[in-house]
Formats: sequence, structure tokens, C-alpha cells
Amino acid sequence: MYDRQLKIPSNIRTPAFILDVAALKKNMGLAARVRHEAGITMLLATKSFAMPAAFPFMRDALDGTTASGAFEARLGAEDFGKDVHTYAPAFSDDEFDEVLNFSHTIYFNSPTQLEKFLPRMRAYEKKWGKKICVGVRVNPGYASATVGGDLYNPCAPNSRFGVTRGQLDALPWQDIDTLHVHALCEAQYEGSVGLIRHVAQHFAPYLQRVKAINFGGGHFINHPTYDVAVLMGALKIFKQQFPHLQVVMEPGGGLVVNTGWLATRVLDVHENGQKIMLLDCSPTCHFMDALNGSFRPRIVGAIDAATAEADDTLRGKFPRHYILGGKTCMTGDVLAPYAFSRPLQVGDVLFLEDMMHYNFVQTTTFNGTPLPDLALWHEDGRYEVVKRFGYDDFKRRLA
Ligand SMILES: Cc1ncc(COP(=O)(O)O)c(C=O)c1O
Repeated sequence: MYDRQLKIPSNIRTPAFILDVAALKKNMGLAARVRHEAGITMLLATKSFAMPAAFPFMRDALDGTTASGAFEARLGAEDFGKDVHTYAPAFSDDEFDEVLNFSHTIYFNSPTQLEKFLPRMRAYEKKWGKKICVGVRVNPGYASATVGGDLYNPCAPNSRFGVTRGQLDALPWQDIDTLHVHALCEAQYEGSVGLIRHVAQHFAPYLQRVKAINFGGGHFINHPTYDVAVLMGALKIFKQQFPHLQVVMEPGGGLVVNTGWLATRVLDVHENGQKIMLLDCSPTCHFMDALNGSFRPRIVGAIDAATAEADDTLRGKFPRHYILGGKTCMTGDVLAPYAFSRPLQVGDVLFLEDMMHYNFVQTTTFNGTPLPDLALWHEDGRYEVVKRFGYDDFKRRLA
């Protein structure tokens, strides 16, 4: 339905997550600029975006990846091919050898994890002649205004993330290279700058004892309203205060915001008080954050129905309202009504916007729902399916 606007072939198989390579390259241009001009290390958080087919477009702009465990560490090492930093709230005995194999920096979440794994790490270094940096995640006790409630606030009360202030003095500082202070989620520049200043003000004695500081992710640097000049100004001041520190940032969403769509097809239009579009995708399986209310996808050619209703001019332009229904049996697998300019028909393809961060890495096959294709829309207009999933992918996880 919207293929002429997007120039994506109308014969695409849906559902499909489609990466806009031109948009990704644009985002990488900005990331590279921040990295060079501010003189920082910039990593991709693969928990947010892990598409090896896209890594060639990202590699030059970044210093490496940041992983959440052994699997992501290996993916980063083998497919991105640059530095890998790895953090987990707790490492398991079984995964730790793999974490050692693939990581350049390993961050521990607590004094007990550090105490448990440091000897194994030192033994590994001795055996293989490889230096691995030791990081410690600290709970900085900072929440930005945009963090959006405790669901996405790493410093929420009773958070399981990071060494608390009162535990800091007892850490073995001679062994620690890097402090890690992830505290943000989709933060505008005020959040990033607030965190940087907060850490400088409240953690200076500890910063003096280490070689690097990792300001975590959640810096939404490529969002249209994020002012990178202000971020770079804050980083400059921080580096003047702590000239011995290497500064690391590890955004995920901020590197891939607005770089692609989830294309989905209307399978049926159901009537029950309202018109309900039944789609070949599912919020439950393909963009679960939409169900907890923290995310409402934009749709090309449509607007939120409540917004349309509240505005006289928009009401006339977008008269057709539809609830969006997912393909599963879960009752709540729906999105509140959207308003369209014209009636939808079975077979129409909708493009849900800004679907590249978190959504495709979190997909499930609940209800036997097929996983969407992963595809690249190249700058020359070529549409390349990089992964098509089938029954085998569904069954392999079950049997
Ligand atoms: C430790 C850590 N680093 C980086 C990130 C990436 O955050 P974002 O994708 O919001 O930039 C996260 C997200 O949860 C995280 O927990």
C-alpha cells in the first residue's frame, strides 16, 4: 500500500523487519563524529541491535560491541570483529570461559561476582598471555527525566544493577580498570549530560583510581531532538576534569533509531463494535514493548486515532479507524486504534516505523507465529532478504 512512497518492492514477503541502509549509514556518520570529535570509545550494544548483515555498515564508525553474556560476546568478536565489552548482572560458571575467550573488558555487577571470577580471569590471562580489563558496574543513583518509569530505570529502588555507593570503598581498587554507570533509556541530551555531571560530582575519588569510565547506553544520539553539541561540550568538560580517563559510551537504540520498519500485511478486517485489522505480525511476538504501554509504533500513512479525533482538521483527513490485532490467541495482542486516510483492505501492507531497536532481537514464535524476514533495503533500491525463517527455526527450539 505504501510501497511507492518507500520504494520497497510490493512483492516483499511479510512480516519483515527491513533495515534502511541509507538511514543506518547516516546514523553511523553522526556516531563517528561524536567518537572522533569528543575522543571517546563508542560501542554498539548488541542487545538492542544484532544484525551481522548490517555490521559492515557500522564497523568503521565504532570501536566494537558491548555484550550481555557469552553468546553476544562471541557474536561481537566473530561478526563485528573489534573490541568486545561484556557485562551481565551475574555470570554463570558455565558461560564464563566463553566470556573470557571473547571479551576485552568484563564488567562485574557486585563485589561477590568480582571476588568469585577475578582469580579465574587472572589464571586465564596468565595461560593465554591476554590482558582483559576488569570493570565494575556502579549504581550511580541517577535517573533522567525521560527514563519513563521504573520499568526502564536501572537505578530504580532495589535495582539489581551495580555496586551500591556504600559498597564502593571495600572494592579491590588495584584490580579495577573501568567503572560502568549505565543509567539511561532513550535519553535526550539532558539525560546524558546530567549523568556525566552527576558522576563527576559524586564519584570523583573513585574515578581517580581507574583508567576508564563507561557511561553505558540510553544516549539517544541520533534522535532528531538530541543535541550532540551539548553532549560533546559536557564530555569535553569531563575530560578536562579527569584527563587520565578513557571515556566509553555504549548506546544501542541511539545508533539505530529511525532506521527501518516492520512491514506487515492485513489478513482480515474483523468487525466487533470497531473494525479490527488482523495482521500477519503480532505485538506479543514482534514488538512486545507495545503491550506494556512504553512504546506505540508510528505507522506510515496513519496517526493515533485519539489524536485524530481531538483535532478538527485531522479528523477529516484520517476518518478510518482500526484497532490493530496480532496473529496470536493472546487477548491483549492488540494496539489501540489508529486513524487512516482511506479504508484498508485485505492484502494491504503497513509499515510500522522505527522498529530496528530491540524489536527483532526479542522476537518469539509464540503460537507458532513465524518470525519476520530480516531484510536490507539498499541505497540503490535493492531489497535483500538476509534471513528467512521457517518451520525448522520454530521446531529447533522446542525439540
Ligand atoms: C548495560 C547496558 N548498556 C547499554 C545498553 C543499551 O541501551 P540503549 O539501547 O537504550 O542505548 C543497555 C540497555 O539496557 C544496558 O543495560
